[in-house]
Formats: sequence, structure tokens, C-alpha cells
Amino acid sequence: MPAASPGTTTATAATAERPEGDYAFDNDSPYATEQHRCLAAAHDAITTARLAETGVGPGWDCLEAGAGGGSVALWLADRTAPGGSVLATDIKPEHIPARPGLEQRRHDIVRDPLPDAAFDLVHSRLVLTHLPRRRAVLGRLLRALRPGGHLQLEEFDIDYAPVLLAPDERTRAGYEAFRAAKGRALRAAGADPAWGRTCAADLRAAGFTDIEPVPHLVPWTADSPGLRLQLHHTYHLRDALLEHGMTEDELLAARDAMRHPDFRAASCVLYCVQARRPE
Ligand SMILES: C[S@@+](CC[C@H](N)C(=O)[O-])C[C@H]1O[C@@H](n2cnc3c(N)ncnc32)[C@H](O)[C@@H]1O
Repeated sequence: MPAASPGTTTATAATAERPEGDYAFDNDSPYATEQHRCLAAAHDAITTARLAETGVGPGWDCLEAGAGGGSVALWLADRTAPGGSVLATDIKPEHIPARPGLEQRRHDIVRDPLPDAAFDLVHSRLVLTHLPRRRAVLGRLLRALRPGGHLQLEEFDIDYAPVLLAPDERTRAGYEAFRAAKGRALRAAGADPAWGRTCAADLRAAGFTDIEPVPHLVPWTADSPGLRLQLHHTYHLRDALLEHGMTEDELLAARDAMRHPDFRAASCVLYCVQARRPE
């Protein structure tokens, strides 16, 4: 995490150019590298284990949409060599590493062209949740897959993540205030942070088949990568959290909760959903 000083964020950047919604985080933020590190630490094991079940291997052509720090794109590039390809896209792709077999591209999954029937596998994690036009994006991803091709999405439902044990009432209330304000801030930016629970139904409506949603929920302690990601969000989203009702005292109490060795919470639910384009 960058220095513990709160600083300012650029959470409202680019509003004018993005009428469809304003991504609440920002890869240009000084906090972005830590955001991507936390995401990979918390979720790559789940993501890659499930991706492996598709049989992805040498020669496969893959799209990683909204690749962020590129950790999953790198895994796919290793997996699809030799002879395969990975196109890793993002509206701000500067954090995606370069390497043979991995093409990095600046690309808006809502608006920019995608080739038809070009990919054996499309993966996207925690991207569509932020996009008001996420159902239209599902149609675009369907058409980008070859017949029989695989889609895997991971999306949160952040509305379930209760405190189970807090050191005291101040820290419990601070953590709950953080959860509520984060939900309001994300929704105000056009996200549906509970979309994980309806993602599978939307995939069916978009024309996908073989839809298999798997929910993941883990205990969170101060050492959990998932809770470190939440702590990070108290910095990355600081301005938005204050704008959406948190006080400075609650912010400090939430951080104290998440750093305390006695704190216990249930994680929010991460839905890992696989589907296929019909043959
Ligand atoms: C929460 S991060 C997730 C990053 C990565 N998928 C992961 O799970 O580690 C969301 C990513 O989606 C990107 N993004 C947001 N809106 C996008 C859009 N319309 N098209 C493509 N990427 C987008 C952001 O720049 C950011 O890198």
C-alpha cells in the first residue's frame, strides 16, 4: 500500500468522456499498483484453478478483458504457449506487463470493436460489475467467442460481508459504515456491486449455455488478502467514501478494525461463473 497518508484520489476522473458510468477506481491513481497486487493475492488462486477446468492450453486464443495488473493474462500466456495468444485489454492498460504471446491493448469493452468468433476463451474479473451497460457487454463477449468457446467471469456480491467479531463497538461501527458508504459510492458511479448474484441469469438471457456459477466465501482476518484489499479501498476510495456519508472518525475506526488481530468478518461473496457460446 502507498504511504498511510490518505492523500487524494482521482475517483471522479473522466466523467465527461464516460457517459455510461465513471469507473470508481483509477489505474492512474498512485494506489493502482497496490489495488492490482491485492486483487491478485486475494483471487488468482480461485480464478486460475477454475480456468484450468476449461482445458485451456497450447494453441488457445484468449481475451482477458479489463486486465488491470495483468496477473491472469500472464497465467494465460504461460498456459497457451506455444502457438496460442492472449489479448489483454483495459481502458488504462499501462499496468499490464509485456511478454511474448501477450498483446496489451487500450480498449473499452463497452464501445470499441471486438472481432467476431475469434477467441476460445474470454475471461474478465471484477470489470462488468462497474459497467452500467454490462448486459450489452455480455452480448459482445458472446459474439467474440468461437462456437463452443468458454467464458469465465468473477463478480462480487458485496452486500453480504458481516462482521463476526470486532474488538469493540467503535471499530465494528466503523467497519459497517465503510461497507455501507462503499456500496453507495460504487452504485453512484454506475456499478452494481451485488451483480455476482444475478450474473448467471443475465448470461442465460444473453444466449450463453452450460452456465455454472460457483460462490466463494472465506473468513477474513487482518492477514487475509481480501481484507487487505478492503483496507486498501479506505485509501483508494477515501474521497468517495467521505462524499457518500462516512466521517473521518469512522474511516479511522474502520482501518483500526481491519488491522486488529481479533477482528473477524465473513468475506463478501465472489461468484465465479463459467458459460459457453452454443455450438
Ligand atoms: C477492479 S479492476 C480488476 C482488474 C483485473 N481484472 C483483476 O481482477 O485483477 C477493473 C479493471 O477494469 C478496467 N476497466 C474499467 N472499465 C473498463 C472498460 N469499459 N473497458 C475495459 N476495461 C475497463 C479498469 O481500468 C481496471 O483495470
